[in-house]
Amino acid sequence: MAKAVGKSGPITVCVINLKGGVGKSTITALLSRYAFNTRGKDVLAIDLDPQANLSQGLMHQTYSTFLSQKGGSIVEVFADYMPPQGGGGPQPLTAEAVTELILEKDERRLDLIPSRFDFSDALTNAVRPDPRILAKFLSKNFKSKDLILIDCSPTESVFTTAAYHASDYVLIPVKPEFFATIGFPLLAESLANFRRNNKGHAIDVAGVVINNAFYDGGNDGGPEKGRAMRAITQECANNGWHIFSKQMYHSRGYPKLMRGDYSYPGDAALFWTFASEFFDHLGL
Ligand SMILES: Nc1ncnc2c1ncn2[C@@H]1O[C@H](COP(=O)(O)OP(=O)(O)OP(=O)(O)O)[C@@H](O)[C@H]1O
Ligand SMILES: [Mg+2]
Repeated sequence: MAKAVGKSGPITVCVINLKGGVGKSTITALLSRYAFNTRGKDVLAIDLDPQANLSQGLMHQTYSTFLSQKGGSIVEVFADYMPPQGGGGPQPLTAEAVTELILEKDERRLDLIPSRFDFSDALTNAVRPDPRILAKFLSKNFKSKDLILIDCSPTESVFTTAAYHASDYVLIPVKPEFFATIGFPLLAESLANFRRNNKGHAIDVAGVVINNAFYDGGNDGGPEKGRAMRAITQECANNGWHIFSKQMYHSRGYPKLMRGDYSYPGDAALFWTFASEFFDHLGL
């Protein structure tokens, strides 16, 4: 799975599952921080969801300032220009105009292209945005990054296609519960469609990560988790999708970390064992 890093540009991964609430935004935020802090990578995180959970999870209290100051965001990336800001008319799109700095050390940064709630308007507008616009923008502006992580929304739209166009790999979080695999056939079909229509583009499923799982055994894993795990294993085998061996357990530490409270993460501290496996798997 290892891919040459550096000269050829960043490895880009979209985090997706066409089922809601499985931990896509939490995992994108924590993997971004881990890649920057522990792996020493230059990272760009992209929020492709109008719910803007990733933006809030990385920016915390500065997100409301960003909204009130009308900073550039993913909305402008899809519009392909910066609207007038009090003189000079529309401006060309630049990386600086649409990124927020989250962390910085030496020459490395963790940057974010944030989302806004009005991003969903782009979907209801009569003109369908160009699904290649994000890939084009990234190829022009972010070749020096080591890693780009894209948080997707749980519903399929032109933005899902945009995420595929920009990505080398797909990471699929899943929660081991009843209906866990309901989004898998849709996702497999959506990827197959994309590959059919874009034969020159190699996009691979990096793997499936089990998130929000109760412990095995005892009275908290239980038969429901066992049932869900069997269904997940079967579906992944059918699709040829790798399952990461390290699971992320249910922990109140995750919402705390997303809020920016790093005081006591509890079992969420185990996230780093998955993160380490994930980056080793990608050879990053
Ligand atoms: N391992 C976990 N333990 C406990 N809570 C978790 C865990 N993972 C995620 N959560 C919580 O579950 C909720 C959904 O997580 P998150 O927003 O990351 O999912 P999502 O897949 O991005 O959702 P959506 O489909 O709405 O975008 C959040 O409240 C989050 O804090
Ligand atoms: Mg989300």
